[in-house]
This record gives sequence, structure tokens and C-alpha cells, in this order.
Amino acid sequence: MINAANIAEMNDKFQSMQPRAILAEVFSVFPQAAVSFSGAEDVALVVMAKKLNPAVRVFTLDTGRLHPETYRFIEQVREQYSLEIEFLYPDTAAVQAFTREKGLYSFYRDGHEQCCGIRKTEPLRRKLAHVDAWITGQRRDQSPTRAQVPVAQVDSVFAAQGRSLLKFNPLANWSSQQVWEYIRMFELPYNALHDRGFTSIGCEPCTKAIGPNQHEREGRWWWEEATAKECGLHKINIDSLAD
Ligand code: ADX
Ligand code: SF4
Repeated sequence: MINAANIAEMNDKFQSMQPRAILAEVFSVFPQAAVSFSGAEDVALVVMAKKLNPAVRVFTLDTGRLHPETYRFIEQVREQYSLEIEFLYPDTAAVQAFTREKGLYSFYRDGHEQCCGIRKTEPLRRKLAHVDAWITGQRRDQSPTRAQVPVAQVDSVFAAQGRSLLKFNPLANWSSQQVWEYIRMFELPYNALHDRGFTSIGCEPCTKAIGPNQHEREGRWWWEEATAKECGLHKINIDSLAD
């Protein structure tokens, strides 16, 4: 059993386990756990999940600002693995009001928070209001804000009132190299942007390729401070850094 009361204990146990075994255990308790897929190297997580749980529920936040390569890749994965992917969209009225007031690139002037709030966080909140557990491809080696990411945690940011929500990061202990070994070993398809210097991939205007020895997520919101590089999806990481 995994629940909010024993999550710390489960997290300790998961530290020495491989992602596949972690996922298997999570699905044994939460077969309907929602897997979040960004269309990047987290394809490893999604394919692993599909193999373990053919009825797996996968969702993507379609911000409307993803790269064409990412849309094509998500579609390729959807078809190749017969995945049912739920695409989540921002509220039309909110995007309309926002773009009418500020245009299409206001994040370069006043930060990504408002746009991410409308295009990612709010649709995610709507989705998570109805689930007990969600699963992400976050890893500790991705950035300074992720250095403490646990495998299992209570998600206090997205839990709807009166409900408990658990968040699992089965790849947390894996390095980028291990993820890529998995992708290559099992010949998984991957986003074409990865061959063009993109390591971390988000929305098109807010992601750029990185150079030698730059950290994996330096190309994300590159005009902002490293400690602000979370979009609200994983705000809990920033909150826990402040503890
Ligand atoms: S982000 O918060 O900065 O965008 P990142 O791109 O590193 O996150 O991805 C970490 C994990 O967050 C992904 O493996 C995925 O589980 C989830 N995620 C990020 N972006 C999306 C998205 N657009 N749709 C669904 N899940 C996402
Ligand atoms: Fe908007 Fe950029 Fe956030 Fe995408 S990553 S939702 S374009 S601010």
C-alpha cells in the first residue's frame, strides 16, 4: 500500500529501486495514475509505463506553443504504442484576454509565470482535481531546482480541497545518460530536436539549444535566473528549496 501517511517510508524504499520496479509498484496501487508526457526524453517513462500497464493514462499539456517537432513526435508515439493520450488545453477565454492585453511574447519582458499559469498550470490543476496520483519524468540531475526531487511525494500544490494527491517521479534517481541508454537500447523513437542540441524541451519560444558544458535546462527560459526555472507544474520543487 502507498498512501500519504507512509509516503516518506515508501520514498526511502524507492531510492534503491529501478524505475521499472517503482512504476510497477505504483500501478499496483494506482492503476489509473496519470502519466505526464512532455514529448521529450520522458518517452522512456511513457513506454515503460505502457509496457507495464497497457491501459495507462497519459496526458500532455498542449500549450499551443510547442515546437512542430514535438507535436509530430507525440503523434508518432501515440500511434506507434497505441497510446491513448489526453491533450489538455488552456481555457480559451483566459488565453484570449491574456494575448489581447500582452501579445504573444510578454514572457520575455515580465517573466514566464503568467503565461505558464494560463497555458500549463491551470489545465494541469483541472486534470489533477480528479486523480489520486500522477507520474512525471523529473530527474534530480536536471537542474538545481530538482536536486532534491523525491521519487514519491505528497503533492500539496495540486491537491484539490479535501483530496489527497500523490506525485511519483520514478526517473528521479536516473541520470540523463541512463535515460538515453534506455532509449537507445530499446530503440525508442525520440524528438528530432534532441539531435539539434536541445536537451530539455518545452515551449518553442522558451527553449533553445544549449552549448558544450551548459546544464541540461539552461536553454529553458534562458533569460531568467536558474532558481526560477520551474513553470508551476513542479512548483513544489521551489517551495521545498525554501524550506
Ligand atoms: S517543465 O516543468 O520544466 O516544463 P520538464 O520539461 O523538465 O518540465 O519535464 C519534466 C516532466 O514534467 C516531464 O517528464 C513531464 O512528466 C512533465 N511535463 C513537462 N511538460 C509537460 C507537458 N507539456 N505536458 C505534460 N507533462 C509535462
Ligand atoms: Fe508560455 Fe513559455 Fe510557459 Fe510555454 S513555457 S506556457 S510559451 S511562458
